[in-house]
Amino acid sequence: MCGIVGYVGSRNAVPILMEGLKRLEYRGYDSAGIGCVVRGKLKVVKKEGHLANLEAILPEGLSSTTGIGHTRWATHGGVNDANAHPQIGAGGKVAVVHNGIIDNYDALKKRLIAEDVAFTSDTDTEVIAQLAAKFLDAGDDPETAVRQTLELIHGTYGLVFLFADHPGLIIGARNGSPLVLGVGEGEMFIASDANAIVRHTPKVVYLDDGETVVVTADDFSTKDLRAAVVDKRVETIEWVAADTDKNGYQDYMLKEIFEQPESVARAFGEGGRLVPEFGTAKLGGLNLERRDFFDIRRVQIIAMGTAYHAAMIGAHLMETIARIPARAEIASELRCRNPIVEKETLYFAVSQSGETADTLMTLREIRSKGGRVMGVINVVGSTMARESDGGVYVHAGPEMAVASTKAFTSQVMSFVLIALLFARMRDLSLSDGKSLVADIGLLPDLMRRVLAQAEEVRRIARKYSSAASFLYLGRGPSYPIAMEGALKLKEIAYVFSEGMSAGDVKHGPIALVNEEMPVVMVAVKGDNLEKTIGGMEEIRARKGRVIAVTNVDDPRITRIAEDVIQVPETREALSPLLTVIPLQLLAYYIAVELKRNVDRPRNLAKSVTVE
Ligand code: M6R
Repeated sequence: MCGIVGYVGSRNAVPILMEGLKRLEYRGYDSAGIGCVVRGKLKVVKKEGHLANLEAILPEGLSSTTGIGHTRWATHGGVNDANAHPQIGAGGKVAVVHNGIIDNYDALKKRLIAEDVAFTSDTDTEVIAQLAAKFLDAGDDPETAVRQTLELIHGTYGLVFLFADHPGLIIGARNGSPLVLGVGEGEMFIASDANAIVRHTPKVVYLDDGETVVVTADDFSTKDLRAAVVDKRVETIEWVAADTDKNGYQDYMLKEIFEQPESVARAFGEGGRLVPEFGTAKLGGLNLERRDFFDIRRVQIIAMGTAYHAAMIGAHLMETIARIPARAEIASELRCRNPIVEKETLYFAVSQSGETADTLMTLREIRSKGGRVMGVINVVGSTMARESDGGVYVHAGPEMAVASTKAFTSQVMSFVLIALLFARMRDLSLSDGKSLVADIGLLPDLMRRVLAQAEEVRRIARKYSSAASFLYLGRGPSYPIAMEGALKLKEIAYVFSEGMSAGDVKHGPIALVNEEMPVVMVAVKGDNLEKTIGGMEEIRARKGRVIAVTNVDDPRITRIAEDVIQVPETREALSPLLTVIPLQLLAYYIAVELKRNVDRPRNLAKSVTVE
């Protein structure tokens, strides 16, 4: 949450910062601002609302070779111009952009007010700017002023400072919120996400917690909090800038839904992960020894939101394919319970961003108790990817829409591979392994066939778009899909929806069903089909309007359901990769029908980096 960007070099920083902020806007879009140094003075322009509002008020010809920018997801202080970043210290000598929360800001603010410092915002961030200003006033050089400030603040931060008297210098600091430095030729970039800089340079340095970086156009130096120099590796990232364009689609979300055949193919194809002749998967990143596969007795998977739904499917796959007891947990809930960490349990943390605070903090808690945590992560080099004991990159590519779609299917596919690998190491036969590998290979084409029905889903979306609330039901691997379908509708269309187990609905929620209630039911071939069809009868008997998503051609379904979305057949374990697509499209088209801002739903940010 909150995106920050900085530039120092010889080009005009303003368009670079604005373009970077465009790519970071998914992290928050309550307000935006930039600051730069013009003729020895700080020039700060900031505005409530989407980036377009800031763009509209940028002074013509504003130019500077050093600057910082911010796009906000409000935590402390309402959404208005004054609370937008950059925040400026008294005297106008230092400005700062911040992602995170300063826990002790209130005490510090009171102290500063007692010393006659006048505050102009309600943010926790302003405390940082005011402290740095005090230290600069007292004669500290910028680096010392920043260091002294950091000693006083407690909390999480990604910070970038800018100084009126030191054009050509920015200073970054990280504790709990990501910061990545982009190393160019005679220019440097800094941002909370490589997305914002990948267009300018593929060379990056990921800062770790407790590190600061002093950046000039030609050089950077990283230090820890005790001011000891830390040698950092310059890494080369593989994303191409085009990955983050809309490629002619109206929204990122639609583009990402349609990219899924390719992103899922990357999840199983990248680095030759499928080994057809042995009917297994190769996942070197897990760093597991042969005997680990036998010693592991249980699997626990932590995640939040959509990633949690992928985790639920992951647990299902680990049990049904690999026959290892497995369960998924909402990461924040596990942390609340002071997790019991066992040696024979293998933990997985699932996250698109690799930065979600709830998941990250739980990962750290498990590791601090000696547990081994594998990451199932999309963003390469993200904090979780770096702090895990091993893992699998899901290779979905940059996901820009707040609503997660392609990362979800790539996470599910990664668990198919993990389950296959464990199963083959334990007791799945070669022929069963080969058959699963063959079915996996068919998926991209099957996904394309589902996507070809987008217009039909759009027709159904129009028909139901005025409904006040929806139920989504499924069993087995379709239960998390029901939850995911409902989450998509809530978050982008703001329509109340509930996803639940088709078995559990009759234990209370069925009381909600009447002739106005659309009930989306996922019914796929396999062990759960008959009971799911039975459940459909029960909903219909109470006049619910059933929308079926199914891969069987069953006359009972066509009789009961008011609308049927047919998806191609695959084995039940792989069916979530197909059945989720119509639900993503249904939410998308309902949101479009209701004129929502699909890529930037209200109150949300893509990466929730606060607990
Ligand atoms: O980056 P992560 O996968 O860790 O994010 C977890 C959730 O915040 C995320 O999946 C959220 O639920 C999505 N907006 C849902 O579309």
